[in-house]
Amino acid sequence: MSTGRLFRTTAFRLAAVYGALFALAVVALFAFLYWRTLTLIDAETDAAIASEISGLAEQYRQRGLVGLMRIVTERSAAQPEASLGGANIYLLTRPDGAVLAGNLKRWPAAAQPTPAGFVFNLAAAEEGAQGNARARAFALEGGFRLLVGRDLRQREKLRAVVAESLALGLAATVALGLLAAMLVGRKLLQRVEAINAIGQRIVRGELKQRVALGGAGDEFDRLAENLNAMLDQIERLMTGMREVTDNIAHDLRGPLTRMKARLELALLPNSDPAQHRAAMESAIAETDRLLATFNALLSIAEAESGALHQSMRPVELGPLAADVAELYAPALEEKGLTLATEIAGCPPVLGSRQLLFQAVANLLENAMKYTPKSGRVTIATRSAENGSGPRGAALSVTDTGPGIPAELRGRVLERYVRLDQARSTPGSGLGLSLVAAVAKLHGARLELSDNNPGLAVTLTFPPRVEAPPQPQAAAS
Ligand SMILES: Nc1ncnc2c1ncn2[C@@H]1O[C@H](COP(=O)(O)OP(=O)(O)OP(=O)(O)O)[C@@H](O)[C@H]1O
Ligand SMILES: [Mg+2]
Repeated sequence: MSTGRLFRTTAFRLAAVYGALFALAVVALFAFLYWRTLTLIDAETDAAIASEISGLAEQYRQRGLVGLMRIVTERSAAQPEASLGGANIYLLTRPDGAVLAGNLKRWPAAAQPTPAGFVFNLAAAEEGAQGNARARAFALEGGFRLLVGRDLRQREKLRAVVAESLALGLAATVALGLLAAMLVGRKLLQRVEAINAIGQRIVRGELKQRVALGGAGDEFDRLAENLNAMLDQIERLMTGMREVTDNIAHDLRGPLTRMKARLELALLPNSDPAQHRAAMESAIAETDRLLATFNALLSIAEAESGALHQSMRPVELGPLAADVAELYAPALEEKGLTLATEIAGCPPVLGSRQLLFQAVANLLENAMKYTPKSGRVTIATRSAENGSGPRGAALSVTDTGPGIPAELRGRVLERYVRLDQARSTPGSGLGLSLVAAVAKLHGARLELSDNNPGLAVTLTFPPRVEAPPQPQAAAS
C-alpha cells in the first residue's frame, strides 16, 4: 500500500485533523504551565527578597548604618562573589558610589523594572559576569544606597528544563498523533482494499466470490452484507436467465426437428397438394405450441426475477376473473362444460395485471383440459377474512374433473411435471409453474385442494398495505 494513497484516505485526514486539534490543546496547556511556573518562581524570589529586606531594615533602625554595614558584610561573606555564583546578592554604597559592603563590584548601570523591583544583567555590575539577577534597591539617609537581590541563574536553568520538557512532550504528542492517524488510515484502507480486490476478481469472472465479514458488526460489515446480498441477487437473476435459455433451447429442439421432418416429407417428388396442406397445418400447430412454451418460460422468468415489483399497480380481481371467463367461455362450451362465475367484491391487490391474467388463464385452461365432458368449472373471487384486520382477496378456480392426488399437489407446481393422466392432452407442464411463480411474486398463498370430485385451486392475496401516493406529473 503506497504512502501517497494512505495520506489521501478520509480516515487519515480525519485522524490528522483530530491530531492537530489535540496538539493545539497540548500547546495551550503547556504554555499555561510554563507561564505559571515562571511567575511562581518570580513571586517566591520577590518574597524572599522582601523578608530579607525587612530583616535588614530592622537592623538599620536599631543600629544605624554601621550595624547595617556589619550585617551586610557578614551575610555576603557567607556567599561567594555574585559573579562566581553567589545566590544572594548584597550591595551597600556610599553617596559617591563607592562600595561599603556586599558581594557585588558596583551598582548595576542598567536595569529592567519589575512590579516589586528590577531585573539587571550581572554584566552591568561586573565585567565578565553572566546571567540575570532580580533585586530591590533602597535609598538610605544621606545618599547611601542598599541593594538586595537573588541570582536568577537557577530560575533560568529551571526555565530551560521546563521549556525543553514541554517541547519534547509536544513533539511526542504530534508524533503519536501522526502514528495513530497512519494506523487508523491503514486499517480502514485495508478493509476497503479487500472489498475492491473482491470486486476486481468478480469483474474477472470469479462470480462466486463474496466479501468476507470482519465480524465486528460495524459499517464495513453492513456494507459487505449489502454487497453480498446484491451479488447473490445478481447471481440468482443470471442463473434464472441461464435456466430460461437452457429450457428454451431444450424445448425448441424437439418441435423444430419434427416440423423440419414433416416439411421435408411434403417436399418429396411424389407428394400431392393434400399432403402439402397437412404438413403446413401441422407446422403451424407446432409453431403455436412453440410460441406458447416460449411465452410461458419468459413469463415465469419475469415473475421469478422479482424485477416487476417496481411496476406493480392495484388490480381488481373481480373484473379480471370475469375477463378470463369471457375469453374461455366459447371453448368451454364447445367442450360441453358449464362455466360458472361467482364474483364477490374484494379489495384490489397490488400486482401485475398481465401476469395475474395469465395465471388465472392457466388455471382455467387446466380445468377445461382435464375435466371430462358435461363437467362444471367455477371461477370465483371473494374477500379473505383476516380477523379484525384489513382484508385480503381470494380467487379460486374449481372443476369436477379427476383432481390431483394430495401427495402429487406439490410436484405438479414444478416445471415440466405432468401427471400420467395428462399424457393424452397436449401441454408442456409449465402452466402451474407460472401460477406458482406469480403467486410468489405477489406474496399470495397458492393452495391445491380437493373439490370432491375435482380440483380446487385458490390464490389468497395478503391485505394491501397502503402505498404512499405516487408523485403525480404536473398537469399542463
Ligand atoms: N384441473 C386439473 N385437474 C386435474 N389435473 C390437473 C389439473 N391441473 C393440472 N393438472 C395436472 O397437473 C399437471 C401440471 O399442470 P400444468 O398446467 O403445469 O401443465 P400442463 O397443463 O400439463 O401443460 P401446460 O399448462 O404447460 O400446457 C398436468 O399435467 C396435470 O397432470
Ligand atoms: Mg396447464
